[in-house]
Amino acid sequence: MQNNTFTRLFVGQNLVVLKEADSTNNYLKELLSNTKPVADGTVIMAESQYAGRGQQQNKWHSAPGMNLTFSLLLRPSFLPLGQQFYLTQAVSIGVVSALRQATSENVQVKWPNDIYFGDKKLGGILIENIVQGSNIKHSIVGIGLNVNQTDFPPEVPNPTSVKQILHSDHDLHQLLSQICAHIEAWYLKLKAGKWDEIRQAYLNNLYWLNQEREFSSDGVDFTGTITGITEHGFLVVRTESEEKEFNLKQIQFLNK
Ligand code: BTN
Repeated sequence: MQNNTFTRLFVGQNLVVLKEADSTNNYLKELLSNTKPVADGTVIMAESQYAGRGQQQNKWHSAPGMNLTFSLLLRPSFLPLGQQFYLTQAVSIGVVSALRQATSENVQVKWPNDIYFGDKKLGGILIENIVQGSNIKHSIVGIGLNVNQTDFPPEVPNPTSVKQILHSDHDLHQLLSQICAHIEAWYLKLKAGKWDEIRQAYLNNLYWLNQEREFSSDGVDFTGTITGITEHGFLVVRTESEEKEFNLKQIQFLNK
């Protein structure tokens, strides 16, 4: 294990780099269950994960040493439980804005928190909250980004990477540091109660917003337009006949 420090930031100031972990989210969770205190903003980065986890019980594939796989500890105790989607939005915007700066204006967030470049997936975020009473005690923010990998296993759906965008290798630590700085800036806005600004930034960067597209729900394909997101993070889609709210399990985006 190697211990590094960034200057200036609270996010990533305490950086732990592991050669290997099952999942950095699991590693951080275990660290929190030990008696030794873990500093806010601690980042656990692994060169390789052998049991990386994605959303909805999916696996997260990442070629060893080529990409960013890390977890960040936040303590948004100021955020009421029902409002945790604001954390998702703040983190997503932080990652998107860092990647836009490093790569291209075409980086967007696909609801709820996939990172997309055009119609391809550049990365994903898995936030796991540890709740105490009606507040979030710890938030484990796991982030996986394809950076220098260009060959992906066939089971990974429509991936892309920073290298495929820029046609050159990118320094992982430099990119991590930029992402930490951007997440911190948006997290501080969240803490300062600038919820409208966060919501607006999320919508401004939302994949397929206000576009007529194809979706599927309960095995039925339909045409609809994303018109917004509810306070609690449901996707609002307008069809010819109605406006409906969906959770993550209820809707699929169809790239036709
Ligand atoms: C998704 O798009 O499904 C979310 C992917 C999240 C992957 C990251 S990699 C670092 C952290 N550790 C994990 O096991 N998962 C997250």
